[in-house]
Amino acid sequence: MLSKFPPINPRFPHFLHGGDYNPDQWHQDIWVEDMRLMKLANCNTMSVNIFAWSRLEPEEGKFDFSWLDQIMDMLAENKAYAVLATPSGARPAWLSQKYPEVLRVRPERLRNLHGQRHNHCLTSPIYREKVGIVNRKLAERYKNHPALIAWHVSNEYNGACHCDLCNAAFRSWLRKKYQDDLDKLNHAWWTAFWSHTYSSWDQIESPSPVGENLLHGLYLDWMRFITDQTIDFYRNEIVPLRELTPGVPITTNFMGLFPGINYPRFAREVDVVSWDNYPVWHTTGSDWRLAVKISFVHDQNRSMKGGKPFMLMESTPSITNWQPVAKLKRPGMHRLSSLQAVAHGSDTVQYFQWRKSRGGPEKFHGAVVDHVGHEHTRVFRDVAELGKVLQKLDPVIGTTVKPEVAILFDWENRWAIEHMQGLSKENRNYPETCIAHYQPFWKRGIPVDIIAEDADFSSYRLLIAPMLYMLLPGVADRIRNFVKSGGTLVMTYWSGIVDQNDLCFLGGWPGEGLREVLGIWDEETDSIPPDEHNRVIIEPRNPLGMKGVYEASDYFALVHTEGAEVLAKFGNDFYAGMPALTLNYFGRGQAYYMASRNEENFLDDFYCRLAARLQLKPNLAADLPLGVTAQMRTDGNNRFIFVMNFNPSPASVILDNNIYVDLLTGDLVKNKISLEGYGVRILKL
Ligand code: GLA
Ligand code: GLA
Repeated sequence: MLSKFPPINPRFPHFLHGGDYNPDQWHQDIWVEDMRLMKLANCNTMSVNIFAWSRLEPEEGKFDFSWLDQIMDMLAENKAYAVLATPSGARPAWLSQKYPEVLRVRPERLRNLHGQRHNHCLTSPIYREKVGIVNRKLAERYKNHPALIAWHVSNEYNGACHCDLCNAAFRSWLRKKYQDDLDKLNHAWWTAFWSHTYSSWDQIESPSPVGENLLHGLYLDWMRFITDQTIDFYRNEIVPLRELTPGVPITTNFMGLFPGINYPRFAREVDVVSWDNYPVWHTTGSDWRLAVKISFVHDQNRSMKGGKPFMLMESTPSITNWQPVAKLKRPGMHRLSSLQAVAHGSDTVQYFQWRKSRGGPEKFHGAVVDHVGHEHTRVFRDVAELGKVLQKLDPVIGTTVKPEVAILFDWENRWAIEHMQGLSKENRNYPETCIAHYQPFWKRGIPVDIIAEDADFSSYRLLIAPMLYMLLPGVADRIRNFVKSGGTLVMTYWSGIVDQNDLCFLGGWPGEGLREVLGIWDEETDSIPPDEHNRVIIEPRNPLGMKGVYEASDYFALVHTEGAEVLAKFGNDFYAGMPALTLNYFGRGQAYYMASRNEENFLDDFYCRLAARLQLKPNLAADLPLGVTAQMRTDGNNRFIFVMNFNPSPASVILDNNIYVDLLTGDLVKNKISLEGYGVRILKL
């Protein structure tokens, strides 16, 4: 039976509601007004100091904490909390001027000038030292401050530096990985190709458009190194925080599916996962389709720490100024999209930003307090109303969900798919494909975890691994054991092709014994242009009870069965009649192979039948209209079901025989619920 996770910080067992707050940009009179407005907005937490280094240390070694002291005190006096940031996301100009080594070097080996943010060298000893000093001072000063609720380390770590220090660190990383044996590296990277064999470690350079950028093994190891080096930088940052504030949770804000850092790996280092969410509502032609993608990312964030609630560290209260178009959130969407995060496991709703800056590139970004300066705005009212809603959700804090279904979405596999030369250039679409396999579950309100290759599969009943091109060490064995002991596996074309170094498996795909698990041999893969299609014709009397003909596009595996049953065949081209969908019984489990990229209707029908066959439990036993989903959080006893309508028009849902309580109104609910356009109801069972 499930139990609850503890609150993010047990000192405040309620939803955190607030945002990035930059008092360092404003006069003190405004601070007083901010406190008044914060209460009116039902906000209780502000993220401070994120980019305030030049205010904290205006000259090298001369610190001024007086302004931050005042802000921390004012927050505490107003019974609010600070998510206190370390300021390494942007540095003072004097630091770059005096120590140019902190400036990042681009892949072309060009050193940046001072400017912008998020662009420091990950290796520079000076930068690490300076960050260490300011972080220690912050921890010393505020370790017992009543406002301190959590640490926000740096901001959205991203990117790489190609300076000599970083290249030296990369070579040391490689020497360690390959046990000082250059032959091992040459073999792993297949350097005999184009005479790339290295005869000395010093010849190895980070990938560059003016140097080596096609060696997949080099690229993959570089990406792994960047993740490790970013984590190493983070570890250096948190030394004083851990030492001086052992009870205060530490996080750093992630960016959804940002490809540059292997987040599941980084997540092991933080106490609580947090992420920044900026969907382009109302601009894609379908808000519910966009909602599917956002739900996928929320689930991914929840899954990284085994279901532990995460923080929605940033979201916009209205518009996002850096997206292609800055469309206002339509009425209802603020509440809905904020509660969407909660529904999938967030214990906070936080914004960028509290007060709209007067100048600079973010002056037209949405904020709780607009340039007009008062509380009588639509956006302010939306935020204040959401704050009231969150106050009613205390019982949801720490609750989670334990899905029976997992989708494997792996960063390293993504790097490998995106870097290889093959298939087609334009539509490899690995993340999109994983989301397409997720969508049928979202539509039916069946909960799903989004996990990496190294996650434990054993608690799931259905494991879906689309385009699992690269098999990291041990993964095939764990998949095999999963199926053998009764699990159901779904795999697709372009799976089990290469090992961790992008070296192809010899002896037939999918490699590493998955051929036996799936009962097939994948001989060749056909990539076709976007305007061409094939047909998938379902075989009569198949165990899923599917029927009909579906369209397939992009990729086609030419498969021979080796024990698997054929559930569908291709309809066109020279491989008409070859298997398009197979099922193999292996051990106590079953393994499906989808040989092509199939249309949405196929995925809907296939997973609907499979869910029925496996008797997967939905969050709400009800038929959900298109665009409506039901997500659940539970402590094992109470169930909180978030029914969300991402359509602009009203919808209604016929309920099962249970009697629910509407958590927001306290009313008893049975038989049927109505939802406004962009409406959400939270039902307690
Ligand atoms: C050219 C080159 C070959 C090989 C092929 C691949 O012809 O000479 O070495 O790269 O392209 O199509
Ligand atoms: C990111 C950053 C913030 C701000 C917002 C604007 O999430 O972390 O500092 O720039 O984007 O959307």
